[in-house]
Amino acid sequence: MKLIVTAGPTREHLDPVRYLSNPSTGKMGFAIADVAARRGHEVVLIAGPVCLKTPKKVVRIDVVCARDMSRAVKEVVAKMGKDAILIATAAVADWRPASCAKRKLKKQAMNGVLKLTRNPDILKSIKGITKVGFAAETNEMIAEAARKCREKALKFIVANDVTQSGAGFGSNTNQVTLVFPNGEYRELPMMSKHRVALQIIKELER
Ligand code: PMT
Repeated sequence: MKLIVTAGPTREHLDPVRYLSNPSTGKMGFAIADVAARRGHEVVLIAGPVCLKTPKKVVRIDVVCARDMSRAVKEVVAKMGKDAILIATAAVADWRPASCAKRKLKKQAMNGVLKLTRNPDILKSIKGITKVGFAAETNEMIAEAARKCREKALKFIVANDVTQSGAGFGSNTNQVTLVFPNGEYRELPMMSKHRVALQIIKELER
């Protein structure tokens, strides 16, 4: 298989020293890239700012913000062609500051109101290839994941409850549920992110 994996957070700067982001460490996406490459698949990993080593035999592209990630994904999809599969584990910021100052903003120049503008939905914008998404949820996990699965035209979506200890952001383990477009779902027990990765890759190999 030819896989494109997005991982980590995006950073949306309002000036050179301040940004909006989230706690994603990239562990889930890097585990998928690692497991897939070890099983002989071709993998391009598009990573937001994280402190992780590139898995062996994986081509890595580093990006900072959602618009960079969107451009990189589109370029790699164009190069890899129609049989590429996109696995989007990245926690992409849905919003960014409406403007980014070239120099550090002075406290006095800020009035406590931050104007935001929408970022592109990377996963939704990619068409014509197989796509797998992730859903970071805090409530109504299955219903929310199923909605995203349909709206983004995914083969399936991997839902995780990020309020649960040992799951979601930063941990070495995860507890996920695979949710399919017809509403069926399969809950997996808590396991290492590498084992979760293996389940996802096996589901795609089937
Ligand atoms: O990196 P870790 O610390 O290991 O944490 C792993 C994780 C919690 C980040 C991961 O398991 C996870 O849940 N990733 C998805 C986080 C997320 O942004 O979920 P979402 O429900 O907001 O987005 C749904 C899907 O659309 C995701 O596949 C996301 O990559 C994609 N998306 C979202 C917004 C956007 N503007 N563009 C996108 O492509």
